[in-house]
Amino acid sequence: MMERTFGMIKPNAMNKNIIGEIIKRAESNGLKLIEAKIKQLTTDEAKLFYLEHKERPFYDELVTFMTSGPVMVMAFEGENAVDVWRTVMGHTDPAQAEAGTIRKDFGDSIGENAAHGSDAPGSAKRELSFFFE
Ligand code: RTP
Ligand code: MG
Repeated sequence: MMERTFGMIKPNAMNKNIIGEIIKRAESNGLKLIEAKIKQLTTDEAKLFYLEHKERPFYDELVTFMTSGPVMVMAFEGENAVDVWRTVMGHTDPAQAEAGTIRKDFGDSIGENAAHGSDAPGSAKRELSFFFE
């Protein structure tokens, strides 16, 4: 099914000069980048974006990290885009991520795991409208 998903390159990956490599991996797997921008998240934006994790012990750390430098927000389109992008990123914890995935290659830790991707079509819709018209 043709669908859209939301992706983000996190601050640690932005520091590694691998935007092109990350987009290349998305494109190689059938995803088309249809909108993107680089921006500095405010604390309020990061808190709201990750509101579902508000009660988790790592919430404050996550918000601090996500506002530590610019991120790149991206809209991808393709067949099963949500699942494809999650697969290209790999497991949340880079130590457990499959070989050849973004998080395995560029993630530093479970907290600083290089990329974000929507986990379902519903969250993709919400996250896309959070950053794009
Ligand atoms: P994301 O939302 O960033 O794409 O990651 P995910 O779905 O694979 O994982 P999720 O459970 O939604 O967690 C969101 C982000 O919170 C950070 N986290 N830190 N310190 C920890 O134990 C821990 N657990 C999760 C990660 O940065 C994760 O991407
Ligand atoms: Mg998630």
